[in-house]
Amino acid sequence: MADRHRTELPASFVIGTATASYQIEGATTEDGRGASIWDTLALRPGAIADGSTGDVADDHYHRVGEDVALMADLGVDAYRFSIAWPRIQATGTGAPNQKGLDFYRRLAETLRESGITPWATLYHWDLPQTLEEQGGWLNRDTAYRFAEYSALTVEALGDVVDHWITLNEPWCSSFLGYASGVHAPGRQEGVLAAHAAHHLLLGHGLALPEIRRAAPEATVGTTLNLYSIRAATDSADDVDAARRIDGLGNRFFLDPVLRGSYPADVLDDLGDGEWFAENATPADLELISAPIDFMGINFYSRHTLRAGTPRDEASAYPGSEFVEFVDTGAAKTLMGWEIHPDGLVDVVEMVHDIAPELPIYITENGSAYADIVSEDGSVDDLERTDYLQKHLAACADAVERGLPLQGYFVWSLMDNWEWAWGYSRRFGIVHVDYDTQVRTPKTSAKWLAGYLGGPLGAGAAEGAPENAAAAAAG
Ligand code: FCB
Repeated sequence: MADRHRTELPASFVIGTATASYQIEGATTEDGRGASIWDTLALRPGAIADGSTGDVADDHYHRVGEDVALMADLGVDAYRFSIAWPRIQATGTGAPNQKGLDFYRRLAETLRESGITPWATLYHWDLPQTLEEQGGWLNRDTAYRFAEYSALTVEALGDVVDHWITLNEPWCSSFLGYASGVHAPGRQEGVLAAHAAHHLLLGHGLALPEIRRAAPEATVGTTLNLYSIRAATDSADDVDAARRIDGLGNRFFLDPVLRGSYPADVLDDLGDGEWFAENATPADLELISAPIDFMGINFYSRHTLRAGTPRDEASAYPGSEFVEFVDTGAAKTLMGWEIHPDGLVDVVEMVHDIAPELPIYITENGSAYADIVSEDGSVDDLERTDYLQKHLAACADAVERGLPLQGYFVWSLMDNWEWAWGYSRRFGIVHVDYDTQVRTPKTSAKWLAGYLGGPLGAGAAEGAPENAAAAAAG
């Protein structure tokens, strides 16, 4: 292991970078890949801020070698990527597409040769379009299709990948996909989004035994997006607003996975207890709550809530009509997300309180800023560097408190196609010129390499943190 400067974190603490298939790969029609719901949504007028698609993105499909070499230069321990379901099964069913499997095998092997541990997510939102046409995640059958896809993918790749994540952020897939409609498949079905959430979780539960069978030694978990939540005041109404959002965003996913039940107050808020009583059977919940080896948390921000006037918009998340998100005046990233590094400790505690033995990883954390490219091509992203340092410091804080936090993945390795924002939001620590596909490590990447002892950080090591913090603050 390289000479590390991260003395405040245990040597075994995993530090990596993260990406997702549709956001970086491009090559959307190559080698037998079928269409996904994001290919379809991207073509819908008005759906994507800059009218772009992921057809090319970072062209990672053709640049695996270069991108892995970049990570080796950073000195990361691990890389979290996702597998595009429609590369493995173009229409979501049937025999696997060998060329799709070959691509991910090559990626995993290249990573391993570079001393980087592959972490694969099976579902980071690219549902095969054919399955959406059969009802998508509103159709219970999709959960069974997901388990089948998981089985054949892990059967094929289990010898080169031994860290698996079933779902990425099922809250987004369900509530942004089927309620607000800002994510694919772009539907506004109100409370039915909660049924999509159950079917996603059922997919996770059905996939678990398949993954265990195909790769008995593998480490398997899932990833939720959790928020640190608080009420704006201690008035009963504001406290209730915070309860609603904590319920819908955090507990509605944590509880079934870790406790084997849906939170009754959230089902009440949704007014949907009957459907759940009939359809979310004890057998389903037993599958969903089967033991996992770790919980992945994507942490980005904190929400402060107060009671609001009931709204009745088609785009509202069911159960959230009565709340307002308060702007606390705290610093925000370009996404408008409040920066609150201590919240990272809050969400780790949230999981730990329910499952004291369970290892926890931050599977995403990062920030978008309006980067400026200097004449010499460099990007001095001091704010992102500061964000990264502070969240790594929060990890150290969590570890010091005895919480079982075992790793952290930066979102993202490189700038990429940020869903409904298209190419207009850059989260990378490596800059990507979308015209030339040239990758340029930003200051944040060099700082991380210094922290990790990677070759790219030589000389940039210890002075950087204070400098960046001071510059970002000033
Ligand atoms: C998360 C997603 C990831 C990326 C970041 C900014 O919700 O998992 O793909 O879009 O947000």
